[in-house]
Amino acid sequence: MNIGLIGFGSMGRTHAYALSNQKFFYRPPLPDAKIVGVCTAHAETAEEAARLCGAPLAVTEEERLIGDPNVDIIDICTPNACHFETAKKALAAGKAVYCEKPLAVSFAEAEKLAALAEEKGAVARVVFNNRFLPAVRRAKALLDEGRLGRILTFRFAYLHASAADPKKPAGWKQTKEAGGGVLRDLGSHVIDLAVYLLGSFSEVAGRAQIGFPIRAGKDGETWRTDAEEACYLTAALKNGAVGTVEANKLATGCNDDLEFSVYGTEGALRFHLMEPNFLFFYDGKREGGDLGGEKGFTAVECVGRTPAPGGIFPGVKAPVGWLRGHIGSMHAFLDAVAGGEEPGPDFREGAYVQLVTEKALRSAENGGRAETVPDYPTGK
Ligand SMILES: NC(=O)c1ccc[n+]([C@@H]2O[C@H](COP(=O)([O-])OP(=O)(O)OC[C@H]3O[C@@H](n4cnc5c(N)ncnc54)[C@H](O)[C@@H]3O)[C@@H](O)[C@H]2O)c1
Repeated sequence: MNIGLIGFGSMGRTHAYALSNQKFFYRPPLPDAKIVGVCTAHAETAEEAARLCGAPLAVTEEERLIGDPNVDIIDICTPNACHFETAKKALAAGKAVYCEKPLAVSFAEAEKLAALAEEKGAVARVVFNNRFLPAVRRAKALLDEGRLGRILTFRFAYLHASAADPKKPAGWKQTKEAGGGVLRDLGSHVIDLAVYLLGSFSEVAGRAQIGFPIRAGKDGETWRTDAEEACYLTAALKNGAVGTVEANKLATGCNDDLEFSVYGTEGALRFHLMEPNFLFFYDGKREGGDLGGEKGFTAVECVGRTPAPGGIFPGVKAPVGWLRGHIGSMHAFLDAVAGGEEPGPDFREGAYVQLVTEKALRSAENGGRAETVPDYPTGK
């Protein structure tokens, strides 16, 4: 499996890391997958990236990788606004595609990509890496087994502090036109997790906030931020549950604070990415009594207990971190390319996240008036 990697900022580096670690984390290993070419916006960065990845080819025109018959997979790690054209060309050229989130900038674009992937019969996945953490997978299993009963309410939030500093220079993530905004960025992860764990949305209402409309750009010029830096949603799901989804970069003191809580008639769950080794589970069936009996949230030690073929390294009791999600996400994609059946978010699921995002942003533009989220065939 020969990979053309497009974009080598923080995520290109992460994907290269996840790829090069596959053989240690999984037994039996998948057929060899290697990066054969890297494309970035500048020749020097492309050459440095190719050297790091051990790839023979460093280019600045993505067509050279997409048009290369030796390349089987296109891995997209560029800014959001580039995803659509690159994925479209790659699918048309018969490649499998692994695309960073969000799948595109608009639902219309994402929907076109989902349809094209199906027409081509291509393996096409979006990188929603948090799905692959053992604690998140355990949450999914408990929910699927019905251990929480009927879901009443939920809270999903992804908080960073990165825009809370007015001196932080602006970049593409602060511009609507480039597909920026915190809802597409952090929000796509938590919308995906809500759908993955609880099912489709029926209604969403949003309020957006820009903390600092004027910033300095990277080269010192004045930059007018037009993409939201925080976004607060209330949402109803098709299963009748009502709750909130928040994406926020104005959260002073936060690092990578992705958290969710789900409350049902028979139990509850809590997860926090800064404490990724544990899932907190409240089993309503456990008896209370003197001194509390056995009632209360239990810390389930998910740690590195990934089912086969994972879990062999660095050992089931070893703590996991953010990168483990990327290693798992990459494995599921490569497994599918190799003809396996390991599930992962396909382009249709990526398009659905885009649909919810778009409805929420439209609501925020209209003073928070609730928007209906139409049915969409994601299999949920
Ligand atoms: N899943 C996750 O955990 C996660 C985390 C952060 C970012 N992301 C996503 O990853 C993507 C990339 O984010 P990043 O933070 O790595 O960005 P970045 O700005 O750090 O890097 C972007 C890279 O793309 C290259 N590039 C830009 N325009 C290009 C073009 N036209 N042709 C070829 N190369 C081009 C740049 O040279 C650079 O190498 C974004 O879509 C973002 O939303 C995902």
